[in-house]
Amino acid sequence: MIFFNNITKVYPPYLTKKEKVVLDNVSFKVEKGEFVSLVGSSGAGKTTLFNILLGEEEPTSGRVFIEDTDVHKASPADSCRIKRRIGTIFQDYRLLSSKTVYENIAYAMEVTGVSDEEIERYVPEVLDTVGLLEHAMHFPYQLSGGEKQRTAIARALIHDPDVILADEPTGDLDPYNAKEVLNLLLDINKEGTTVILATHNKEVINGLRRRVVTLKDGRVASDSKQGRFTL
Ligand SMILES: Nc1ncnc2c1ncn2[C@@H]1O[C@H](COP(=O)(O)OP(=O)(O)OP(=O)(O)O)[C@@H](O)[C@H]1O
Ligand SMILES: [Mg+2]
Repeated sequence: MIFFNNITKVYPPYLTKKEKVVLDNVSFKVEKGEFVSLVGSSGAGKTTLFNILLGEEEPTSGRVFIEDTDVHKASPADSCRIKRRIGTIFQDYRLLSSKTVYENIAYAMEVTGVSDEEIERYVPEVLDTVGLLEHAMHFPYQLSGGEKQRTAIARALIHDPDVILADEPTGDLDPYNAKEVLNLLLDINKEGTTVILATHNKEVINGLRRRVVTLKDGRVASDSKQGRFTL
């Protein structure tokens, strides 16, 4: 379970006299295994909320819990353990351009100390899951946008995460590739992984019929079970 408890984030004034309140007492819970879309116009604070959950930014006030652990009070060891339980994907894929699909995933495992045998066993398995076995030896420039994003999803799966944070993952994709990526996220969710999807893509949201949390003016403007895009 993830619990955002009264999160406020204020950025100090810069060039202007006014401080910027990005998040204003945002509270909601995400239960294990849920698929939740986080909706809000550009600048609404979706990425900020993800960064706070990842412990990469401090909230100005409020707390975030993952199970019983307060993300911002966790010891460095606990913090590391928490981060491993969360896989992240982004609009711009963030693949290494000089490495193949296989190497992008293998490298992410290598840097976290996974053994060579484990990497050799696991990478083909995860590539099969995302339907990219035939592209294993291709470089990012040889892939479609959807294939790049599926590579990024494979990389996010390497530690068998409890949660996937997807920050506008379909932003650069045409409707066909967007649907493919979304279906993959739904499949991953079916296997029990919690998915939080930040997006301002109306079609994506309305097709999902899943829970939608809408951020507006720094607050949770609505939270509905089979939500529609209402901004
Ligand atoms: N380090 C920072 N200093 C000052 N302001 C910041 C900082 N980081 C983010 N902001 C501001 O906080 C607001 C929220 O940004 P955020 O990136 O969370 O929005 P978002 O909902 O993810 O938008 P988008 O849909 O465009 O990705 C924006 O107005 C942004 O300019
Ligand atoms: Mg963002």
